[in-house]
Amino acid sequence: MTLRSLLLLLLLCLAFLPILQSKLSADYYEKTCPKFSQIIQETAVNKQGITPTSAAAALRLFFQDCFVNGCDASILITSNFYKKSERDADISLSLPGDGFDVVNRAKSVLELECPGIVSCADILAAATRDLIVIVGGPHYEILFGRKDSTISTKENTDKAFPLPRMPLTQIISIFGANGFSVQEMVALVGAHTIGFSHCKEFADRLFNFSKTSDYDPAYNPEYAKGLRILCENYTEYPTMAAFNDVITPRKFDNMYYKNLQRGYGLLASDSALVADERTKPFVDMYAANQSLFFHDFAHAMQKVSVLNVKTGNEGNVRDRCDSFKELLT
Ligand code: HEM
Ligand SMILES: *[C@@H]1O[C@H](CO)[C@@H](O)[C@H](O)[C@H]1NC(C)=O
Ligand SMILES: *[C@@H]1O[C@H](CO)[C@@H](O)[C@H](O)[C@H]1NC(C)=O
Ligand SMILES: *[C@@H]1O[C@H](CO)[C@@H](O)[C@H](O)[C@H]1NC(C)=O
Repeated sequence: MTLRSLLLLLLLCLAFLPILQSKLSADYYEKTCPKFSQIIQETAVNKQGITPTSAAAALRLFFQDCFVNGCDASILITSNFYKKSERDADISLSLPGDGFDVVNRAKSVLELECPGIVSCADILAAATRDLIVIVGGPHYEILFGRKDSTISTKENTDKAFPLPRMPLTQIISIFGANGFSVQEMVALVGAHTIGFSHCKEFADRLFNFSKTSDYDPAYNPEYAKGLRILCENYTEYPTMAAFNDVITPRKFDNMYYKNLQRGYGLLASDSALVADERTKPFVDMYAANQSLFFHDFAHAMQKVSVLNVKTGNEGNVRDRCDSFKELLT
């Protein structure tokens, strides 16, 4: 082979590189960033040690990222004067800072170790997976090679994301549109075994609920009483928040489902799961069998983690997770 044809071959290979790399794989960073997993793991352990709310924060962030336009780190973009990003949708305003922080921390370390290689979308997926294990949840394998988005709009979020006051039928159809069965949906919402919700997300269930009852009768009365005290001044103090799982708030377990059976479902969408015949059988199953919940949750999270991912040329690897890559044109 002549030097010229060798060069030509090389050029050809380079041209096809993005295509060759356009698939997710378990060992995506094995050659290009061998310390990827270790760095994510160390960052997750450190961050969770300093701020125990981080696991829930990352999990919610990841779920929202994937459900709106795919797992492409579009949720991490800070909006500017001209353009409102996903972060500015109403439901995003309360997104917890610790979720963003864990990603940014890992990104800083990774940029020193292997600059320009690891996408923010992969960081969020991997950190979330590791954090779930740290708080006691199941481990699952995920694939890597996601690219970061080049768009992030507020409008996308307002349409595609489930809200606590939506009728269950609408919530089921949003999950259905993303390829999740009713059972998978019930397993995923088990994520509410950790983390917080702000009073405004459920205050309508606590005060002046109906002509006959101050609070939603779906609540256990003692629980409602406690929440009414916690949230009594929530309009002046909008940061007031309650644990999603009042019994074991920091532990990833199946207590969420047992809570639902006892009237400790915090959000209207939580309580609905045990009141509706379409979802109640799964609530009862997961309440009775934590391994089954872990198994189904892990499997459903694997599905979440590949929703509408961008690979190859469909996106890029950002330099910073909160802003789009500056394209040299
Ligand atoms: C029925 C569908 C769902 C609805 C309506 C819903 C709604 C909410 C709301 C309103 C909050 C409170 C936000 C705040 O006040 O800061 C919340 C928190 C949370 N959600 Fe969901 N969610 C749903 C499903 C899911 C799923 C599928 C996951 C993950 C797989 C998830 C993970 C979380 C986590 C971890 C938190 C706690 C966040 C924190 O502590 O910072 N949610 N959710
Ligand atoms: C509930 O209704 C009463 C009487 O209509 C009103 O005075 C009160 O401000 C309401 N409370 C809340 C929290 O809206
Ligand atoms: C709410 O405000 C009232 C009046 O200022 C105060 O007495 C009460 O302790 C406050 N409740 C909470 C939970 O902070
Ligand atoms: C719980 O679910 C697992 C499947 O993950 C199954 O192997 C086990 O038999 C179940 N346990 C009970 C008590 O049903």
